[in-house]
Amino acid sequence: MSRNTENRIFLADPAATGDFACFLAEKLRPGDIVGLDGVLGAGKTFFVQSAARALGVDGHYTVNSPTFSIMQEYSGRHRVLHIDLYRIRSAQDLDGLGLDECLNGTSITFIEWFSRIGHFKPAEYILLLFDITKDESRSVDIEYEGDRYGQLLARCLEKFS
Ligand SMILES: Nc1ncnc2c1ncn2[C@@H]1O[C@H](COP(=O)(O)OP(=O)(O)O)[C@@H](O)[C@H]1O
Ligand SMILES: [Mg+2]
Repeated sequence: MSRNTENRIFLADPAATGDFACFLAEKLRPGDIVGLDGVLGAGKTFFVQSAARALGVDGHYTVNSPTFSIMQEYSGRHRVLHIDLYRIRSAQDLDGLGLDECLNGTSITFIEWFSRIGHFKPAEYILLLFDITKDESRSVDIEYEGDRYGQLLARCLEKFS
């Protein structure tokens, strides 16, 4: 799927990113998948942490855990799964993570570096492509597969573009 600049929103500062994360999080339900991509420092983790808080995951989550590597599960109002594929270098690295089970489960799943997911790419998802526009401002291009996520996108655009 190619980028579509009509599906772009601008986030002026971290608070705006937090608001966007909260808005989206409140519309998510068990089994949903949110992919995130974009350069280091673009705000993917910041977004996931904000969304997780909105989903009732407690604040300790924001403390960087040294053991956090690829996959971490939290419980709030729903189970929240945070996957970070930054360290994935090959298809073999992906095998053995149990991604299939995760993606077909009942957690709300956030996946950083979604483009590295290879053949585990789910049929339906919403994908947030972050970019740094200036100092504290970010742009997010949103792509999706599946009607449900198209509706979610429409609601995001209505509110934030
Ligand atoms: N508008 C913004 N949205 C998100 N993060 C921002 C924004 N402006 C500045 N930042 C800062 O950029 C950094 C983003 O880091 P992080 O979320 O870890 O990036 P990534 O996971 O994409 O590598 C954080 O230090 C955050 O405070
Ligand atoms: Mg990150």
